[in-house]
Amino acid sequence: MRFDIITIFPELLSSVFSAGVIKKAIEKGLLEVRVHNLRDFAHNKHRQVDDRPYGGGEGMVIKPDPIFEAVEKIKVFPETAVYLLSPQGKKFDSLIARELAKKPQIILICGRYEGVDERVAQHLVDGELSIGDYVLTGGEPAAWVIVEAVARFIPGVVGKPQSVVHDSFFDGLLDYPHYTRPREFRGMKVPSILFSGDHEKILKWRKRKALEKTWRLRPDILKKKQLSLEEKRLLDDIIKEGIKNEPD
Ligand code: ADE
Repeated sequence: MRFDIITIFPELLSSVFSAGVIKKAIEKGLLEVRVHNLRDFAHNKHRQVDDRPYGGGEGMVIKPDPIFEAVEKIKVFPETAVYLLSPQGKKFDSLIARELAKKPQIILICGRYEGVDERVAQHLVDGELSIGDYVLTGGEPAAWVIVEAVARFIPGVVGKPQSVVHDSFFDGLLDYPHYTRPREFRGMKVPSILFSGDHEKILKWRKRKALEKTWRLRPDILKKKQLSLEEKRLLDDIIKEGIKNEPD
């Protein structure tokens, strides 16, 4: 799997892929991340990549020609996914991340300034992606977020595949609570069930906690999810009993 990121500020991204899980994945050969300077694809005197908007108005617009040229040079496979990062895009989420992880190559184009010439969105890319309803000064932080989230779904990137399975959102629920030592900290106790050694019970408790948390904090997610019979029963219990104030 290979990521290619097109940006006019490659230095913004140079350090983010050289630490942690992404760095290890690159070293293991599971992932390649290349950051390209858009100016390398501009052929005018000052390697200018932006220009004034037709029709007038504030700010500058990124020109279509260097972006088209960059994608045409960088794209390797017919199945390569090409996305423009912008606040107008489809909201990026875990489902999209999982689908993108199946692609052999993903090209991410970071927008800047007031915008990118519309012909890029209309005729070059597979779509636009946004990481949230806010405006960043450019797509670079979004590119980082997307590489991180997609990479976790590439087999071998996360040491224990089970951690991805239990991640928030993997099965459409928020994560269950985690605890480590000390067993009691400033009077706050770890729920006793976690010391029971009964794995069945612990699994059920975690499922219940994940459902509780999702119901309390993100009911919108719960509405979209197909609940299993066990999950429905647990949720009925939670609603009937109200949320217990654990630990007990
Ligand atoms: N560029 C500017 N804002 C953005 C956002 N919210 N998501 C993705 N790219 C962006």
